Amino acid sequence: MSRPLTIAIDGPAAAGKGTLAKRIAARYGLPYLDTGLLYRAVGKLAFDAGVDLDDAARATDIAKRLEFSHLDDPALRGHEAGEHASRVAVHPGVRAALVDFQRSFAGQHAGAVLDGRDIGTVIWPQARVKIFVTASAEVRARRRTDELLAKGRAVDYDRILAEVKARDERDAGRTVAPLKAADDAHLLDTSELDIDGAFRAACEAIERSLA
Ligand code: DC
Repeated sequence: MSRPLTIAIDGPAAAGKGTLAKRIAARYGLPYLDTGLLYRAVGKLAFDAGVDLDDAARATDIAKRLEFSHLDDPALRGHEAGEHASRVAVHPGVRAALVDFQRSFAGQHAGAVLDGRDIGTVIWPQARVKIFVTASAEVRARRRTDELLAKGRAVDYDRILAEVKARDERDAGRTVAPLKAADDAHLLDTSELDIDGAFRAACEAIERSLA
């Protein structure tokens, strides 16, 4: 029986992980989980309920009661939900409450693709392939700004750049499961690549790992 093909894709906000992970999942016929959605759902439920996002106990309580129907809310994809997610994601209790779901998804028979911040380091360190996707903060802010402009939102590049940097600092600076590349991850800098180029580079890294 062949070993499950579990692929961990980690990296900072707006590096293009999601698009890449979806294409990799389609290419290898694997189920895909965007783990950021779990944190986004907790952040949004807390915010909508008027809970202080720095209140670890209340945020943890919400994470424990998370239902997977909550993940269908289209508002979770928005920029604000990402900011709220990053704030609740610093609480160890929130992270602990979301571990089992992620691990049971990663442990599927045929394998799976998961993207996030700590998949290769904490959630599934035994992943057969780990890719850490980066791009400079300036490139990520430009992509995010263009995305929002395309949706008709009035946005300011400098403000988005400041938010991207603040998010990096919070995600990488927290004490539990900070954003960092696993020692055995392939580093994929997409600053100079379009999505097709990033996909090709990722597939080459996967094929090298499987060879
Ligand atoms: O990948 P994303 O932008 O949807 O993630 C939103 C926030 O959720 C991110 O800033 C930090 C948190 N997150 C996390 O801490 N761990 C994960 N595995 C995924 C997301």
